[in-house]
Amino acid sequence: MKEKGAALTEHTREVIEQWRAKFPEGRQRSAVIAALHAAQHDNNGFLTSELMDGVAECLDLEPIQVYEVATFYSMFETEPTGRNSISVCNNISCMLCGGDEIIAHIEKKLGIKVGESTSDGKFFLKREEECLAACVGAPMMMLNHVYYENLTTDKVDEILDAVE
Ligand code: FES
Repeated sequence: MKEKGAALTEHTREVIEQWRAKFPEGRQRSAVIAALHAAQHDNNGFLTSELMDGVAECLDLEPIQVYEVATFYSMFETEPTGRNSISVCNNISCMLCGGDEIIAHIEKKLGIKVGESTSDGKFFLKREEECLAACVGAPMMMLNHVYYENLTTDKVDEILDAVE
């Protein structure tokens, strides 16, 4: 018989078991986000249908219960992307403080447009965000879900140049 979640790495399966154990019997849906994080991390930053099916198997859920989470939250990718995800806010406060200039600078520096990844697979300029609730630090961006505020083009260079 095929092992549950055979498409997943052993590490991902271990993480899923650890998270499943944190919740009462029958509440394993609560472990889906952590499970998807682990699966994505172990697959160079994106999910495939095989991996999502594997998560569903490990958690005894219907695949749709995993797919709906993976496609709803912006921290999950279902297509291959660059390893380091950049999202620049360009809502009103950030736009008024130079968000457009920050985006143009990153596009030029990396040689890609919003929505694209660099050819070396290092960066993914994911999208323009609609306010990340850090308006007081405008203009701002997220790099791998960490906030960087009060950006200037020099500061962006420093941040991106330090990424491995
Ligand atoms: S407008 Fe950019 S964080 Fe609110």
